[in-house]
Amino acid sequence: MGGVVSPAMVSAVAEAGGIGLMPGSMGSAYARDFFRTMSETTNRPFGANIPVGFSEPGVVDTLLELGVRYVTTSTGPVPAFTTRLQTAGVPVLHVVTSLDDAKRAADAGVDGLIVEGAEGAGLRGDVAMMVLLPLVTSQVDLPVIAAGGHFRRCHHGRRLRPGRGGRADGHAHGRLGRVAVHENFKQAVVSAAETDTLLIDRHQRRPVRVLRTESTAPYEFATRARPSGPS
Ligand SMILES: Cc1cc2nc3c(=O)[nH]c(=O)nc-3n(C[C@H](O)[C@H](O)[C@H](O)COP(=O)(O)O)c2cc1C
Repeated sequence: MGGVVSPAMVSAVAEAGGIGLMPGSMGSAYARDFFRTMSETTNRPFGANIPVGFSEPGVVDTLLELGVRYVTTSTGPVPAFTTRLQTAGVPVLHVVTSLDDAKRAADAGVDGLIVEGAEGAGLRGDVAMMVLLPLVTSQVDLPVIAAGGHFRRCHHGRRLRPGRGGRADGHAHGRLGRVAVHENFKQAVVSAAETDTLLIDRHQRRPVRVLRTESTAPYEFATRARPSGPS
């Protein structure tokens, strides 16, 4: 969640007993600053997410040097650097959006999976969590964290059992004061109904779930690339 996550947010997650993730996509210099700030606010462990499709290769060395405790990888196949992290004692969980992805990740030797349903925000696949999670947990023998659509309090805990490991949250953090997004966006997230999001960029095989706005709505069924990101 590059550009959105702050050390204050990751620190708050860590202090609450969760595993906060710093965005590895922001590069090595950012990682050094992030770790420095974290060391001033918490002793609790935290991790880093490396979106393999858009991260500088050297960030893995920096994270190892800084003593990262956990890594999640996403937006692509399991990267070759996974073994290097594991050899250094860093567990690697890979984000998957289909059963095939999950089987490939298991064959590649990851320590666990983050199973991301189509309900989640940001980049994702298009299989609903209710279909994807039981498929993966019944056919792949790895710890699983379920991600996508855990927004309301009534969901908390329910996914823990089928997820066999826990729950990952994304957009729900947009409601919190520590997230580096505009107040108008936080309010839009809070007031959104279940029908107020849509998937765009499906034709590019990298669908993104966004809030429905005047800017995003025309791209729901578009078959050509957007000229620029939605506002
Ligand atoms: C603004 C935003 C940015 C995100 N960026 C990333 C990212 O860089 N890497 C990644 O693996 N997931 C990313 N995600 C996905 C989240 O980590 C999380 O898995 C997802 O939001 C869970 O679904 P939820 O939003 O319904 O809680 C992002 C989500 C949001 C809302």
